[in-house]
Amino acid sequence: MNKLASLFLFIATISLINCELCARLGRHILQHQCVLTPEGTEGPYYLPYHLVRSDIRENRPGLQFKLKFKVTDITKCEPMKNVTIDIWQADALGTYSSYTKNLPTTVPKSVLHADPTDNTTFLRGVQITDDNGEVEFMTVFPGQYAFRTPHIHLQAHVNGTTVHVAQLYFENSLNNRMARLTPYKQRVNKEIRNEDDYIFRRDNGDATIIHNIKPLDGKRLSRGLNGEMIIGIDPSHESSSALHGRQE
Ligand SMILES: *[C@@H]1O[C@H](CO)[C@@H](O)[C@H](O)[C@H]1NC(C)=O
Ligand SMILES: *[C@@H]1O[C@H](CO)[C@@H](O)[C@H](O)[C@H]1NC(C)=O
Ligand SMILES: *[C@@H]1O[C@H](CO)[C@@H](O)[C@H](O)[C@H]1NC(C)=O
Repeated sequence: MNKLASLFLFIATISLINCELCARLGRHILQHQCVLTPEGTEGPYYLPYHLVRSDIRENRPGLQFKLKFKVTDITKCEPMKNVTIDIWQADALGTYSSYTKNLPTTVPKSVLHADPTDNTTFLRGVQITDDNGEVEFMTVFPGQYAFRTPHIHLQAHVNGTTVHVAQLYFENSLNNRMARLTPYKQRVNKEIRNEDDYIFRRDNGDATIIHNIKPLDGKRLSRGLNGEMIIGIDPSHESSSALHGRQE
């Protein structure tokens, strides 16, 4: 048995015994889950619709994307339940609901909050974390728009306070594989590089990439994707209005 296997056996054995030392050791081993996820700009398109639903697709174009988040309270290094996770994103062609009159090729005038152009709600929704700190969404893989690399926006709310605002990204290799598929290829005309997106660079986007995304059916990405990510939050933190992209 190699060293790693013995270590796991050791941990498995001691984790059956409930003791403070074991709890601390367990937390140490789970340390990577207990790191604050960097925050990022809210951007102009957040709307507090609070639509509680797991499937946010509403038949929008794009490949289905099953996305799970595991929310960790970094101050306790434990999964956190009853956190409201709110996500919003563009469809495969770069359009946001409630802003369908803004062309995806037009650079927004400002990163501050923009007034909606209509009342559509696709690709927006909230879920509440369960006892394991988990939520799951069914969405579509987002497309590009204007100067932005593909991303998904996220907020975490605890007791009505916004404690976290982030943008989640993908590996360049995945973005470019997706860009060759229908319907994404209608929009993309050059290689996508996260590094070309100034918000990605400024917000340390490398640290909020969702890695290890797999085909949903285990075989082909063209039939859909499956991803998950740990979101480390500090529930006593209040996200600043600058991050919210609002003038107050
Ligand atoms: C959204 O719907 C409400 C209620 O029907 C309406 O008052 C409002 O003008 C609509 N907003 C836009 C931007 O269309
Ligand atoms: C869960 O969070 C909501 C606010 O989002 C709060 O009203 C409710 O009391 C919380 N429930 C528990 C059991 O803490
Ligand atoms: C939420 O509010 C309730 C009632 O004020 C409080 O008991 C609870 O500890 C709060 N939860 C968190 C995570 O702050």
